[in-house]
Amino acid sequence: MILVLNGPNLNLLGRRQPQIYGQQTLEELEEQIEAWAAELGAAVTLRQSNYEGQLIEWIQQAEAEGFSGIVLNPGALTHYSYALADAIAAQSLPLVEVHLSNIHAREEFRRRSVTAVAAVGQISGLGPLGYKFALAYLMEKAR
Ligand code: DQA
Repeated sequence: MILVLNGPNLNLLGRRQPQIYGQQTLEELEEQIEAWAAELGAAVTLRQSNYEGQLIEWIQQAEAEGFSGIVLNPGALTHYSYALADAIAAQSLPLVEVHLSNIHAREEFRRRSVTAVAAVGQISGLGPLGYKFALAYLMEKAR
């Protein structure tokens, strides 16, 4: 079972800077992720929060909840949340950081991820497919 977490402002997908993040709403993205998970034979739980503390609690509890891996798009928390980085480092599940946009090809402040240091890896700029590749990786890893 894989936990897919989306952070701040990702609830606005479809309406928010569609030239950068695409036309797809969060609901549509989640449906797409569920379809990919079914293809990969993965069970997924999808959650979104605009609150750092909520994301931290979900990450802290993931192992006890029986998840085998985490896919996380931390939104802008990526660039400054040491609390989120600490929560990722404090647990032992493999976590893949995903960004819809290429954070290295945008504003300077987006180039740095303080959370990726605690992740097994990062996928950035591949749009929704990033979530699929992260799931595929975590499924392989869990075998
Ligand atoms: C994002 C990139 C972040 O810089 C931004 O703050 C987001 C979305 C992405 O998916 O491309 O909210 O994580």
